[in-house]
Formats: sequence, structure tokens, C-alpha cells
Amino acid sequence: MKLTDDEQRMLDGGEGPAVHRAMDLLVRYGEALGAERLVPVNNVCGTFVAAGPMIREFASKGNDAIFSEFNLDSTERVEMPQVKAYTCHLVMGIDSKHPEMNQGLEETVRIQKEGEKFFGAKGVNMLATCTPYQVGNVPVMGEHCAWMESSAVIYCNAVLGARTNTEGRESTGAASITGRIPYFGLHIPENRVATHLIDVKVPVDDMMDWGILGYAIGEMVEEDIPAFRGLVAQPNMIKLKHFGAAAASSGGVEMYHIPGVTPETRSEEYAFGGRAPLTTLVYGEAERRIAYEKLNSTAKSHDVDFIMLGCPHNSIEQVGLAARLLEGRRLSANTSLWVFTPRALKEVADRSGYTALIEAAGGHVLTDTCPAISRIMPKDTKVVATDSAKQAHYLPAITGVQAWFGSVADCVEAAVSGRWNGGLR
Ligand code: F3S
Repeated sequence: MKLTDDEQRMLDGGEGPAVHRAMDLLVRYGEALGAERLVPVNNVCGTFVAAGPMIREFASKGNDAIFSEFNLDSTERVEMPQVKAYTCHLVMGIDSKHPEMNQGLEETVRIQKEGEKFFGAKGVNMLATCTPYQVGNVPVMGEHCAWMESSAVIYCNAVLGARTNTEGRESTGAASITGRIPYFGLHIPENRVATHLIDVKVPVDDMMDWGILGYAIGEMVEEDIPAFRGLVAQPNMIKLKHFGAAAASSGGVEMYHIPGVTPETRSEEYAFGGRAPLTTLVYGEAERRIAYEKLNSTAKSHDVDFIMLGCPHNSIEQVGLAARLLEGRRLSANTSLWVFTPRALKEVADRSGYTALIEAAGGHVLTDTCPAISRIMPKDTKVVATDSAKQAHYLPAITGVQAWFGSVADCVEAAVSGRWNGGLR
């Protein structure tokens, strides 16, 4: 790999042992990928604070040891320097402020808070969400980034037109203190053009439609790049957030094009870079039904215990919608409702009265994490209802629960009645 003088100096240890380790990791990673060079990045989204099993094993060794082992893949403990790139923290292991999630986890809360303090002092911004673009981290078109979290990566590429591959904890850790990432994959303009044309033959309009479309398309194209024509109505941020999260769950989609909507897609021809599509696929009534049935395939019992909204983390508009649907109502004695949003938006939800409405109905507004990451749900949960294709995909596989997928209104009705009555309309 060809390095600049600055990069060579970092590799040779001119900026200390941690930067040396980071540059060594990036060079080995880049060479394994066939990258010929590194690219400067000044927008990194990764995870740093200890979570899950690493807390038990590593907490007593300190946060430099956690950074060395998990962010630099180094068994030798090195001291973490100040970050060089603008760096944000994605989700945490638990919601340390909310007793619904952290009861009995006092030691975990203490370790997480210590980690936040340590990495915050190094310059890592504690956004604590899988949706950094909802709380101020909005890179511009063409900007090179190093982001983890598949739902954020696809949003960054397709909707914002910024450029990132799906990075890992190690590569984002290394990028944060070097300001570099290997130049390969979606950093290269030619790799960002569409491969598959999707002819949409059924109307795609509300959030549930976009979630089902994303889930179907992920299965169809896997890691390729779809472009859409046909009956897709003008989406908004919420719909594209759900679409991308679903497509990156059933498949590994990191980029897509919607002519006239996404910034690198002035026209269908432009989406394909002037080339013909490799193939044209149809998304019609049958494909829609198959995806919907697959999303609901684990659900057997109509008695619902737990309703989860906010995967990816809810926007303030979505928290407001849930609050309005719950206003003046009361959850069934047999259900729990958790609504997840970034902590910065929870403050807005509190001030707007949404949290009070949700809590008056018996629900809770949580932040920082989600059940798929924390593995924490209300005690004895067996059947979940969610408006998220991503959560319906992962929760049964990770925790063994049954999952119903439907609209926000279906989920709220299930929370109030304790029964699932949703369906494909
Ligand atoms: Fe976010 Fe958890 Fe979903 S991290 S995208 S809410 S699985």
C-alpha cells in the first residue's frame, strides 16, 4: 500500500504507540482488501465504551486496555491519545438512566459511566444512538466517513451521498486516532453505481410499506446495489431509515438509488453510470406478501407481552405519533411498551409532553440502546410486536422470542389490547 509521508511517520511510531498500532491495523486491513492507499476521514462513528461480556472480562483492566484490545486489536496495552477525527459513539450496552432496563445492573451502569467519561475526555462524542444523522452528525455529499452500524451506513451512502463501507469496532477505533481509512469499496465512485433495476409494481407509501420493500430487496440483491423505478411515492427520512435498516438486515445492502430522490441519482441512466442493469427484478404483490410473511414467520401466539418501537431509534416525529396514539389510553395489564429514541431527542420528547403521554399510558421512553443490542426485555417476554423489520428479523434469532411485525398503529393497539390484530393491508 502506498502511504503518504505523514502516514508513514504514523506507522513508524512518530505519533506514539497507539497511533503506530492503529496505522499497522489499517495497513494490514487495507492490504487484505486490495486497497492501494488510505483516504483521510474526519467523520467516524464507532463504539468504544465496554459492553456485554467484555465488561466482566476487561473492566478491571481499565479503559486503555479496552481500547487497545477491542479498538486496535492489540494485546499490548497502549494509552489512547486524543482522537484526530471527529468521532461519535453509536449505541451503548444499556440505558444507564432508565430503571426499566438497568435494574440489578448497578456495576454495569458504573462501568458504562466510567467508560463514557474516559472516552468523552479523549474526544469521542457520546451521541449513543444508531442514528447519528438524527442528532446532528450529517456528513455532506462526497465526504469520506468511517461508520459502523449497517442501518447508519446505508443511510450515510444512499440518502446523504457521503461515502463509507460498513466498518468494524477495530477499524473505526484506528480511524478515530489516525484520521485515515482504506480507500476501497464505496469510497470509490465507480463502485457506487447501481447493479440491479427494481421495477416496483405495488404502491410503496407508508413506513410499513417501506420496511417490507427493504426486507424483500435485501433478500433479492444481497450485497448488490438496487435502483428503483415504478410506484415508490416520495419518501421522507423516517421511511428511508426503515427501508435501509430492513435491506441491510435481510441482505447486506449498503447503497441504493431512487431517481429524483437520492443525491447521486439524477435519473435512472445516471444511477447505472451509463451501463445497462445486470438484471431487472420485479417487486409486486407476491414479493410483498412473501416478505411480510417471512417477517412474521416466528409469531404463533396472538397474545403479545412486549411492544418495541424505535429500531432504528425513533425521530421526534415518531415519538410524537406514538404519544398521540396512546393519549388517554392505558396499556393492557399483560403488556409492556418501550419506545427508543436518541437521548438528545428524549429531552425534546420530555419538553414536548410526549414522554408524559406515553408514561401516563404505562409505556416508557428509553435511550442509548435497544433489546437486540442489550439483550434486555421486560421479564418473561415471549411474544414481541414491533414496527421495525430489522428488530423483527433479529430479536427471534438472538433471544428466541416470537415477533410480530406491523404498523405503529397495529403495535399500539396490541399494547392496549394485549392481542395482535395486525395484518397486511
Ligand atoms: Fe438501532 Fe438496535 Fe435497531 S442499534 S438499528 S435500534 S437493532
